[in-house]
Amino acid sequence: MRIDGKPMRTIWPHADGRSFEVIDQTALPHRFAVLRIDTANAAARAIKDMIVRGAPLIGATAAYGLALAMREDAGDAALAAAYDALLATRPTAVNLRWALDDLRGALAPLPAAQRFAAAWARAAKICDDDVAICRAIGEHGLALIRDIARRKSGRVNVLTHCNAGWLACVDWGTATAPIYLAHDAGIALHVWVDETRPRNQGASLTAYELGQHGVAHTVIVDNAGGHLMQHGEVDLCIVGTDRTTAAGDVCNKIGTYLKALAAKDNGVPFYVALPSTTIDWTIADGLRQIPIEQRAQAEVTRIAGKTADGRIETVQLTPDGSPAANYGFDVTPARLVTGLITERGVCPASTAGLRALFPKAA
Ligand code: MRU
Repeated sequence: MRIDGKPMRTIWPHADGRSFEVIDQTALPHRFAVLRIDTANAAARAIKDMIVRGAPLIGATAAYGLALAMREDAGDAALAAAYDALLATRPTAVNLRWALDDLRGALAPLPAAQRFAAAWARAAKICDDDVAICRAIGEHGLALIRDIARRKSGRVNVLTHCNAGWLACVDWGTATAPIYLAHDAGIALHVWVDETRPRNQGASLTAYELGQHGVAHTVIVDNAGGHLMQHGEVDLCIVGTDRTTAAGDVCNKIGTYLKALAAKDNGVPFYVALPSTTIDWTIADGLRQIPIEQRAQAEVTRIAGKTADGRIETVQLTPDGSPAANYGFDVTPARLVTGLITERGVCPASTAGLRALFPKAA
């Protein structure tokens, strides 16, 4: 994708061959900043502090982080310790475990002297693969948008929640890839962007990237989606996911479930876009088996933004002493999902649907 017209990814190796760089997402949308990461600890901190976030990007960052650990000490004990430390950074997105398992499996049989180079190359491949996968998701999702565009006059209205855009991945995004391809194909399209409290990944990140790409969009408060659906203002929802079970239950940013309920009640198709690296083949019951991250109360009680004179300030929203709960994710049962848009095509959100597309993994 492009920032100020310049093609960029969200993560890339530095020319020194011993560090990598990421876009600091905590500074967006008001400031564009790049952060250089040169230790495994710094990579873990970047994930924990949400300098990088979004399931695929968390996986890619962890892969580079594990590679950096191998530069510091490539022994078996160091490999195990770095694996554990990176895995502990965030509990819900399963791409983290997937990427770490992939690297550990490839590195374990190698002599220590070869591990850093092998890990570095593998992390780069994870990034390249993610770009190709998201592009393929885009092609399959484009067919759905094209179909709606053919049947209606006027623009196609898509609603999305959180940021499942290129900032959450390496490029393209999952939920946004079909949107970008539809826009580039000249389809008249408009996106309702849920602000996505408490961290506002929709208002801060999705709106930013859609704006950079020139896609028409409107930011709405999280509670507006149901109203818009009742009034025929949403043609389809496309959201991302942080973990989808082998039976098609979808865990995604908190509030997704309510959008799926509203979509069902109003006959609006509700699609989830995902790379197969987000499928947790080891579980079927999302409600009981997916750990839901609970984050700091301050994310709910405070909000940061730009003042009229351009300063970034954080203010308190709630009365002194009122406690807050901060659940990061919720689970949308498969029965509320119209279809899963994967790199191999669109399938029903069910064991049979996923098995048909990914027979080996299933
Ligand atoms: O807590 P975050 O910002 O890391 O949340 C992850 C997400 O970006 C979303 O839940 C997203 O919709 C899925 S990731 C492509």
